[in-house]
Amino acid sequence: MTARVRKAVFPVGGLGTRFLPATKALPKEMLPVVDKPLIHYAVEEARAAGIEEFIFVTGKGKSAIEDHFDHSNELEAMLRSRGKEEAAASLRSWLPAPGKVAYTRQQEPLGLGHAIWCARHFIGDEPFAVLLPDDIFLADVPCLKQMVDAYSGRGGMVAAEVIDGPDISSYGVLDISGEEGPVVRVRSLVEKPSQAAAPSNYAVVGRYIMTPRVFEYLDRQEKGAGGEIQLTDALSWLASVEEFSGIKIAGERFDCGTRGGYLRANIAFGLQREDLRDELVEYIRGLDLGA
Ligand code: UTP
Repeated sequence: MTARVRKAVFPVGGLGTRFLPATKALPKEMLPVVDKPLIHYAVEEARAAGIEEFIFVTGKGKSAIEDHFDHSNELEAMLRSRGKEEAAASLRSWLPAPGKVAYTRQQEPLGLGHAIWCARHFIGDEPFAVLLPDDIFLADVPCLKQMVDAYSGRGGMVAAEVIDGPDISSYGVLDISGEEGPVVRVRSLVEKPSQAAAPSNYAVVGRYIMTPRVFEYLDRQEKGAGGEIQLTDALSWLASVEEFSGIKIAGERFDCGTRGGYLRANIAFGLQREDLRDELVEYIRGLDLGA
């Protein structure tokens, strides 16, 4: 098995119900943070980590994602006819190379584990990354790059964040057996435990490296919490049969699957932009925020 992580799976087949009505006709993954869709951040991050093949697990109503990563001849011609050569060229600069992007469809959103299982025929015999586009990171070293740099070449790995307090029960949580720097050894994972039952304060966030052995478990199609085929259950099984680690990510994560996280991301990413920063700071300073 080659140890280098060359392929990434982007599960984008979910319904995005927490963002209705915005997501009635627009895929959640196409919601913009400043001026780039969430999925665009995830693809950029994957590329920065050395990913060469991009596999999207899409679903009904998600064709805007395919269009986003395709040529747009009409738009480019229109920009050129208006003398906007640079803007036209830049539309192609970030596209995956021809033949390096694949789409498969999850006919029914049966859960994240099921979405990953739908990508099984694209993976072959090598470790692969999974990026959930809901989570985006402001970090000096992009999140997946931190993982790939620390990856031993064997077994699975998840991105982790220390969450203190009751919010831990919204996450998959690591049961750990040791730690070395930012890397922790993982015994098992528990999906959304109560705060009292949480085996640690290490929460799993939306970046993973896994081996194709995960499909041995997912092939069983077992339903877990909420009647969904849960990725956490599959990873917990994986941790019982092979080396498995977590890595505490350096940087700030924004959960854009929630309204609050999405709004914070727009402010934080907006403040990073030279062309927007002053305007935004002036606006925020002028707000009457009460007591
Ligand atoms: P979420 O559970 O956050 O997304 O999954 P959701 O179900 O679309 O959103 P809500 O909870 O209804 O608001 C995280 C990622 O996994 C994908 C989603 O598209 C999202 O990118 N996903 C989820 C799938 O591809 N298939 C599924 O069955 C579930």
